[in-house]
Amino acid sequence: MNPELTAKAAAARANAVAPYSGFKVGAALETKDGNVYTGCNIENVSYGLTVCAERVALWKALSEGTREFRQIVIVTDAPVVTPPCGACRQLLWEYCGDMPVHLHSLRGFDQEYRLAELLPHPFDRF
Ligand code: THU
Repeated sequence: MNPELTAKAAAARANAVAPYSGFKVGAALETKDGNVYTGCNIENVSYGLTVCAERVALWKALSEGTREFRQIVIVTDAPVVTPPCGACRQLLWEYCGDMPVHLHSLRGFDQEYRLAELLPHPFDRF
């Protein structure tokens, strides 16, 4: 676990716009050259247009031209481990490859996976 990256994800989580679920998520995506793009979940009154924290971080990085990634930290305050949703797993796989995915709960526990563990047999470019 990377304390600096975790702190950045936790800071991003504070900006979450989650009035409907009340569940705030923060993400910090580190690039191969050491830059960090953060994101938080952003909900919407139609619910279905909600964007997860992971995707906000990924869109920020891609839109700035970054294409190579090292790892991601995802922070919640859940009482259980909360790995990324299926849609985010697909997108993280497609753009970041098999990187480490660190999960941190502010309740004081951590878990780490490789993305390939979370998304076995992915659909990919062929
Ligand atoms: N959420 C994320 O931001 N990331 C995930 O990986 C799972 C879910 C958000 C979406 C929604 O705003 C809230 O958490 C409850 O599902």
